[in-house]
Amino acid sequence: MSEQSGQEPGERTANHIAHNARVWDYWLGGKDHYEVDEQVGDQVTSMYPSIGEVARADRAFLGRAVTHLTGQAGIRQYLDIGTGLPTAENTHEVAQRIAPDSRVVYVDNDPIVLTHARVLLTSTDEGATSYVDADARDPAAILRAASGTLDLGRPVAVMMLGILNFILDTAEATSIVRHLLDAVPSGSHLVLTHPTLELGGEGNEAAMRFWNENATPPITARGRAEIEGFLDGLDILEPGLVSCACWRTDGADEGPLVAQFGVVARKP
Ligand SMILES: C[S@@+](CC[C@H](N)C(=O)[O-])C[C@H]1O[C@@H](n2cnc3c(N)ncnc32)[C@H](O)[C@@H]1O
Repeated sequence: MSEQSGQEPGERTANHIAHNARVWDYWLGGKDHYEVDEQVGDQVTSMYPSIGEVARADRAFLGRAVTHLTGQAGIRQYLDIGTGLPTAENTHEVAQRIAPDSRVVYVDNDPIVLTHARVLLTSTDEGATSYVDADARDPAAILRAASGTLDLGRPVAVMMLGILNFILDTAEATSIVRHLLDAVPSGSHLVLTHPTLELGGEGNEAAMRFWNENATPPITARGRAEIEGFLDGLDILEPGLVSCACWRTDGADEGPLVAQFGVVARKP
């Protein structure tokens, strides 16, 4: 299934402006991006050398969080908002390797992600995947579309990795999280990653300023207190809100600490 916005992908793609989904793909070593994305990506890297490590740590966190939720918490349904371009170890691949009946709905508003969405629709026969072309600012539309694939009466892991940072207004971001979590039952989870200026990361602030002047969509960092506000009323799993590189590494090499918070929390 693909819920579409009614626009042709090309109409919303500005190929002369760097887009986050494509630059993220570049930092992850993918090939679905344009020259302008490489130029802006390289400039950000020159200002903030650890950005590539942030992207890789974020994806590794995704793998560990989905492995935990599927393997230990019994989650079989995922709503992955701000999916990004398909890469290695997409949510359904991690979940369905452990539980083939896992069902995953992907959501992104970038037209290039829509054009590559078929790669995300390679479900097992026992499970299901679908793609929704929608904006995170419209949680009602996301839930409506997701209910075609997910049973919203059963626990869902709402994945918001590297996306709330594009909702610049904290009250709006909080209300989106509330709306989504209110729609799913006890036992559901929220999985978040979010850039911050509180975990080091030399050059991060200047690089974000550069991004906002030269690329789209605009981004903001948030501190621990603001991110904890998204988790109000939820039970935060150990080890809490930490650099995503340190979340449940189980003694494996953590890699460098990155300036990106990661957290998993359960709706009681
Ligand atoms: C930094 S990437 C993260 C991708 C993936 N979640 C990960 O952690 O690797 C952010 C993604 O969010 C998408 N995005 C940004 N603003 C959005 C919005 N308002 N609604 C839906 N998706 C959005 C971008 O298109 C991009 O694909």
